[in-house]
Amino acid sequence: MTSTLSTFASLTALLCLQAPLSLASNSHHVRHHNHHARASSICATSAVNVVDNSTTFWPFQTFQSFGSTPPQLNITTNGKELGDGLLFFSPGSESGQGKPKEVNNFIMTSAGELVWANPNPRGATDIKVQTLDGEPVFTYYTPVGPQSFAGIGWGEVHVVDKTYTEIYTICPQLNLTKGDGVTSICDSDLHEHYITPENTMYVTAFNLTQWDLTSVGGTANDWVIDALAVEVDIKSGNILSVWSALDHIPTNQSHAGVPKTGVPKSGAIDLYHMNSIQSYGDYMLINCRHTWSTYLVNRKTGEIEWTIDGQTGGDFGSLPANGTFKWQHHARITNVSATEAILTYFNNDNNQPGKVAVSTGLALQLTLPPNPKTPPKLLASLHDASDPLNAWAEGSTMQLSNGNWFMGYGSSAIMKEYGPDAATGQDVRWSAQFDSIGGGDSYRAFKQVWHGLPTIPPSFVVAQGEVPAGLSGCTNATNATLGYVSWNGATDVSSYSLYGGASEDDMQFLGAIRKMGFETVFPITQDVSYVMVSGSDPTLNVERNSTVVKI
Ligand SMILES: *[C@@H]1O[C@H](CO)[C@@H](O)[C@H](O)[C@H]1NC(C)=O
Ligand SMILES: *[C@@H]1O[C@H](CO)[C@@H](O)[C@H](O)[C@H]1NC(C)=O
Ligand SMILES: *[C@@H]1O[C@H](CO)[C@@H](O)[C@H](O)[C@H]1NC(C)=O
Ligand SMILES: *[C@@H]1O[C@H](CO)[C@@H](O)[C@H](O)[C@H]1NC(C)=O
Ligand SMILES: *[C@@H]1O[C@H](CO)[C@@H](O)[C@H](O)[C@H]1NC(C)=O
Ligand SMILES: *[C@@H]1O[C@H](CO)[C@@H](O)[C@H](O)[C@H]1NC(C)=O
Ligand SMILES: *[C@@H]1O[C@H](CO)[C@@H](O)[C@H](O)[C@H]1NC(C)=O
Ligand SMILES: *[C@@H]1O[C@H](CO)[C@@H](O)[C@H](O)[C@H]1NC(C)=O
Ligand SMILES: *[C@@H]1O[C@H](CO)[C@@H](O)[C@H](O)[C@H]1NC(C)=O
Ligand SMILES: *[C@@H]1O[C@H](CO)[C@@H](O)[C@H](O)[C@H]1NC(C)=O
Repeated sequence: MTSTLSTFASLTALLCLQAPLSLASNSHHVRHHNHHARASSICATSAVNVVDNSTTFWPFQTFQSFGSTPPQLNITTNGKELGDGLLFFSPGSESGQGKPKEVNNFIMTSAGELVWANPNPRGATDIKVQTLDGEPVFTYYTPVGPQSFAGIGWGEVHVVDKTYTEIYTICPQLNLTKGDGVTSICDSDLHEHYITPENTMYVTAFNLTQWDLTSVGGTANDWVIDALAVEVDIKSGNILSVWSALDHIPTNQSHAGVPKTGVPKSGAIDLYHMNSIQSYGDYMLINCRHTWSTYLVNRKTGEIEWTIDGQTGGDFGSLPANGTFKWQHHARITNVSATEAILTYFNNDNNQPGKVAVSTGLALQLTLPPNPKTPPKLLASLHDASDPLNAWAEGSTMQLSNGNWFMGYGSSAIMKEYGPDAATGQDVRWSAQFDSIGGGDSYRAFKQVWHGLPTIPPSFVVAQGEVPAGLSGCTNATNATLGYVSWNGATDVSSYSLYGGASEDDMQFLGAIRKMGFETVFPITQDVSYVMVSGSDPTLNVERNSTVVKI
């Protein structure tokens, strides 16, 4: 095993502070520690260890004070300005060929430093920041029990607040007909979990049913998978509405392919594959991968107001060059006015592994109401000319507040950020790989602003060991007592305080430690028997003490 200390060392830089940390900017610290006018600073560095055992796993990070093993991102940048925010993604292994050391959801910085990992690692999809009751929350889906159809799921949605407390668990019970062997009582699917301004949530759901497909070359009792848009009241869990694709979209719009010989339940045809829902006002935008189309649906009546078809354009008239789409994901409508809107997609252009058609981030300028005389215009067709990716499934595209575009390539384990004028694919500002291409995946990936402070205190361990290279400038010892501290999810903490003493009741402030990456390591040189670290978030005026460790 080649185990190299911190490739982040160059990012976070060796820090053996010459001057005391500026505590003046931290009023909380000043109030508590003003009797230490010349508080000493303790040298520190990032403790991350990268395990590169590539024959078995994609390179992953390990820590002393926290058990998670997130992927080591392989990052390239062109040096131009990046948008604000943290990465939200969920490495998994859709194809079964991936090598993620840990299937879980993660929040990281653009530099690949862990910010938060779910402490109970599990397969998840669609982790993203949303707003509930005016407050930021993040949400993600997990399956419940065994699943029998690849690509769809039956499970629950977790709503987590900025203290990392799960405040709601959404388990819609529609008594759907599920795949054989699926025991989940919860009927939310993995693809969409969209919180509306009315504090309700739209989720996708899939129901197996028999349908007459003779008009499209099938039989009278073929098993199909109906796609549902389900609106749930978040607080009560009550189901408010169910919209069925089978009820509204003719089966002849599906590109799923209908065999002539009859379809058993175990092979039920996924006619629509609804994979995104967005509400705005009285409408919802529903995207169906298998009809290559997106529908604007009246939330009250269920009527389809308009359709944009990825090949013909549907109600909008012919699509521009490079503006057609197939097998698409993550339809989002933005910048909506009475006469215009922008529609964005992750345009897979693929539906099976190994197929070669470059997936793009697509932005179309629409005229409203739709009129074939003023067809859509191409705003962006984002792709990396030097790294064309053919994502056969999954994916997401979003615009950041500075105009940059952020894309998660779904079944290709990579995320990219493009400049605002990247239509030609020449301004790829940042690219990060987290598993082998064609192996691991993340259903979607987002870059979003998030501030969190966990209710749990910092995690702190002490070990005798070799002094890491990053600390060699501040001690001549080769071995020392080392403290390792991390605080899973604390986004706005820049330093810790070290306390120590001869007994647990006599803890004196010993110095400030600058936070270095997810986990900070520092030498404990003082003659004390008990140590403890304290973390504080100056913006929230909150301080939390770790457990006391006996040396
Ligand atoms: C890689 O990991 C596997 C599984 O943990 C282990 O058996 C193997 O010895 C490791 N190989 C190296 C080179 O570390
Ligand atoms: C990391 O990215 C660089 C640049 O894209 C690439 O050349 C290299 O092969 C990647 N490393 C791995 C382990 O995939
Ligand atoms: C689902 O079944 C349960 C138990 O039989 C029942 O209480 C519930 O009302 C049903 N829900 C719907 C939406 O039919
Ligand atoms: C689900 O399908 C079953 C038939 O398998 C049908 O009886 C039931 O009404 C459907 N449920 C919904 C919510 O469409
Ligand atoms: C598709 O089905 C709809 C509704 O059954 C029908 O009106 C339409 O003519 C069909 N389109 C084609 C191309 O067959
Ligand atoms: C369409 O894409 C191709 C390939 O990237 C490019 O050469 C061409 O200029 C694009 N056309 C338009 C109208 O954007
Ligand atoms: C969409 O609106 C935002 C402001 O809400 C603006 O910053 C952005 O440039 C607009 N996007 C386009 C493509 O016009
Ligand atoms: C230094 O620490 C390592 C790891 O804990 C240990 O194996 C080694 O014996 C120590 N060396 C000395 C000189 O104490
Ligand atoms: C390390 O040893 C050198 C040579 O003895 C000495 O000059 C230096 O001050 C020592 N540094 C520390 C941090 O103890
Ligand atoms: C943390 O410990 C220090 C030193 O014992 C103490 O002064 C402080 O009040 C403690 N803070 C909390 C929040 O318990």
